[in-house]
Amino acid sequence: MNAPLFRLVYISRNEISGDEATVRREIDQILASARVKNPIENITGALMFNAGCFAQVLEGSHDEIQNTFERIQCDPRHSHVVILAFEPASERSFSNWSMAYLGTNSNASAKFGDITNKSGFDPALLEGDHIFDLLKEHLIEAESTSH
Ligand SMILES: Cc1cc2nc3c(=O)[nH]c(=O)nc-3n(C[C@H](O)[C@H](O)[C@H](O)COP(=O)(O)O)c2cc1C
Repeated sequence: MNAPLFRLVYISRNEISGDEATVRREIDQILASARVKNPIENITGALMFNAGCFAQVLEGSHDEIQNTFERIQCDPRHSHVVILAFEPASERSFSNWSMAYLGTNSNASAKFGDITNKSGFDPALLEGDHIFDLLKEHLIEAESTSH
C-alpha cells in the first residue's frame, strides 16, 4: 500500500560564498546529491535559489521526507532553515523531477528575491503556498519554453 503523500516547503539563507563559479559548483553538487538520493527515497521536488536564499519543495511520504529533510537541515551550505508547510498533498506537482531547479536567472528567482526582501526574510510573512505556487507556475513556464 502506498503511504499518504506529504509536501514540505521551507526557505533558508544561503551560506555559500565566493565567486559565481564557486557558487555554481556547490549548487551542482547539491543537485547531484538530490538526483541520486531522492529517487531512492521516492522524493520529488523543486529547488529555487537566488543569491541570498533557497526555497525548496519536497514531496513524498511523511517518513521519507523527514529522512531527507533531516540531512538537508544539517547542511552548512545554508542556515536559518524555516519550515513554511508540512502537510498532506493530493498529488505530486513535480512528479517528473527528482529535483527541479530554478536558478538565479529564472523569473521565479527574481520574484522570490522580491518576496524575501519585502518580508525582510520574516517567515511569518512568507507563506508556503505562495512559494509552492511560484515554483509550480514557473516550472511549467520553463518546461513549455524549453522545447
Ligand atoms: C538547499 C539545499 C537543498 C538540498 N536538497 C537535497 C535534496 O533534495 N536531497 C538530498 O539528498 N540532498 C539535498 N541536499 C544535500 C544534503 O544536505 C547532503 O549534503 C547530501 O544529501 C549528502 O548527504 P551525505 O553527505 O549525508 O551523504 C541539499 C542541500 C542544500 C544546502
